[in-house]
Amino acid sequence: MSAENQVHPQTKHAVMATPTHDEFSRQEFVRSYKNYLVQNVHSGNQTRYEKIIKPKFEKTHNRAPKDRFEVGKEMVHDPYYQMFSSLLRTSQEMMWSSCQVPVNRDLENLNEKIKIPKGTKTLGSLKLDTKLKIPRYHTAVDIHCQPGGYHSEVTEDDASAGLVYDRAVHIYAMGQLGPYNDDIGASILLWLKNNHPTMAPRKILDMGCSVGHSTVPYAQAFPDAEVHGIDVAAPMLRYAHARAEELGEKVHFSQQNAEQTNFKSGTFDLIVSHILLHETSQKAIHNIVKECHRLLKPGGLMVHGETPPYKNMGPFDAFMLDWDTRNNNEPFWARSHEIDLEKLSKKGGFDPKNQFETLIPSALQVAEAKRSKVFQGGDFGGGGLWFIYGNMR
Ligand SMILES: C[S@@+](CC[C@H](N)C(=O)[O-])C[C@H]1O[C@@H](n2cnc3c(N)ncnc32)[C@H](O)[C@@H]1O
Repeated sequence: MSAENQVHPQTKHAVMATPTHDEFSRQEFVRSYKNYLVQNVHSGNQTRYEKIIKPKFEKTHNRAPKDRFEVGKEMVHDPYYQMFSSLLRTSQEMMWSSCQVPVNRDLENLNEKIKIPKGTKTLGSLKLDTKLKIPRYHTAVDIHCQPGGYHSEVTEDDASAGLVYDRAVHIYAMGQLGPYNDDIGASILLWLKNNHPTMAPRKILDMGCSVGHSTVPYAQAFPDAEVHGIDVAAPMLRYAHARAEELGEKVHFSQQNAEQTNFKSGTFDLIVSHILLHETSQKAIHNIVKECHRLLKPGGLMVHGETPPYKNMGPFDAFMLDWDTRNNNEPFWARSHEIDLEKLSKKGGFDPKNQFETLIPSALQVAEAKRSKVFQGGDFGGGGLWFIYGNMR
């Protein structure tokens, strides 16, 4: 492992699945295997590109490849890239399977532990909507190869997808989202603290909250605020609720589509999302921004966190960051990284004058040694940077 990347062991909590010694070793192997690919194998692609592929292209065309498509046309035939790509795809499948085994083995007990009996006094709440239609952009494809996606249920009151996800994210991010997998939320909070130091939101909404990794930090940062997390997937929310209670944080979770929620207009001071947009369709992204506009109070702030867009990136880096579109069941990845954000704001009802988009450092990176700036494929492949896009209402 390179000295540049610091791995944070995941902090255990009572509702997590407990792997056996061998299951844990397998998970740790996948994490370090992924890290090895990024730190030691990934760079070979650039060497192949600079030394062989680009010069060959330049000889034929009298110019360098102008975009990621031209880079990709050549790279996909390169044996080194093919090897790298197949190893990375395999690591993704190994990751899900290594996290599924301990969950499936003990599912009945785990679901029982997660289920909070009716009448129990809790800090936050959980509202599920069994009639909610799961959007086709989730049912048609297992996003980033998670078997069954976020929403599938295998038994009554099932939280298995959430149980698997909590552990898999740690491995996916190679331990670089911090002990609670909460770096995206923490990074946006740090940006808020530096750029809106007087902001004291009373109502906060986290859209596409999953198991609440990024939601909990808002409850911690603004203890007097009412914090809501919404997601379309019931297994994620069951787990999110149990996890937040276990961590002693008050969050209200509800099963809702961020494109059209049941909150009243002008409810929130702050609406955030963390790596949600790239997993939804173009139409959904527009609906979500429009819904944010409806839900924000005047003067309220919308902030969406993603990996960096392609527009300021060289063609090679853009091609590598686009790996997911081609290999990781992320059909909306490319277009979400190329969307015209000014038009998006305008169509959503926002004044583009109040729009902002910027790269922010990961909160952990600020606190520690720098990560290598490798734009690799994957939800956490932004080289230690997050991209935020948003608007003031
Ligand atoms: C990559 S995960 C988000 C991770 C999470 N925000 C975090 O920071 O850890 C994307 C989540 O968005 C949810 N999702 C996708 N489309 C949605 C929609 N239209 N409305 C609400 N949730 C949605 C998925 O079910 C999934 O749990």
